[in-house]
Amino acid sequence: MEILPPDLQSYLDNHCDPEPPALQTINRETHVKVLKPHMLSGHYQGRVLSFLSKMMQPGLILEVGTFTGYATICLAEGLAEDGIIHTIEVNRELEEMLNAHFLLTDVGKKIRQHFGEAEQIIAAFPYQEIDLVFIDADKKNNYTYYCSVFDKVRSGGLIIIDNVLWKGKVYGADNDGDTQMIRKLNDQIAADTRVEKLILPIRDGLLVIRKK
Ligand SMILES: C[S@@+](CC[C@H](N)C(=O)[O-])C[C@H]1O[C@@H](n2cnc3c(N)ncnc32)[C@H](O)[C@@H]1O
Repeated sequence: MEILPPDLQSYLDNHCDPEPPALQTINRETHVKVLKPHMLSGHYQGRVLSFLSKMMQPGLILEVGTFTGYATICLAEGLAEDGIIHTIEVNRELEEMLNAHFLLTDVGKKIRQHFGEAEQIIAAFPYQEIDLVFIDADKKNNYTYYCSVFDKVRSGGLIIIDNVLWKGKVYGADNDGDTQMIRKLNDQIAADTRVEKLILPIRDGLLVIRKK
């Protein structure tokens, strides 16, 4: 998943804040018990998400794609005192594990879990003025999720989309369907004058978008 050379990534890992114990447990459990554990954000990206959230001190966060709750907790670390993070996951089999993971941390009480198809849950999401959205679910729907959350995000709010460098394929010679799809997403957002945007070369590429 990582596009940076492993020695550089280890250096970065060793020079950021350590992974909190609850997240170490979730990371380990995910690798032992869950299929495709690499989907979890992990130590360095988790610290980046936590850092961005702490800078914003958001009152309302929406995450699309909970998986085992790693990034949910990282984002929740930055919530304002009375802030809430809503997170959407289609796979109900993760429910028991997620409940256990959220109990491991103080911010667990600020997390509201929704199970079901993200598109439907976003359409029915009753809140406006979202401060921060993290889109990290089925990649083919990235642009749909971006469009459907856009009007619900406040001016100055952030939308972050994961995996936009697609293991480096987007800027190489690869031309398979998935790579073309991610390239199209990046081009669409680059051309969107309603937002400021930066792709950060973190892990598999984080696209950080600020609504003007
Ligand atoms: C990459 S993982 C999320 C990782 C998590 N955000 C983290 O960083 O630790 C993607 C998750 O999105 C979920 N997902 C996929 N398609 C979905 C959909 N249509 N609606 C809601 N969740 C979906 C998957 O079941 C999976 O758990």
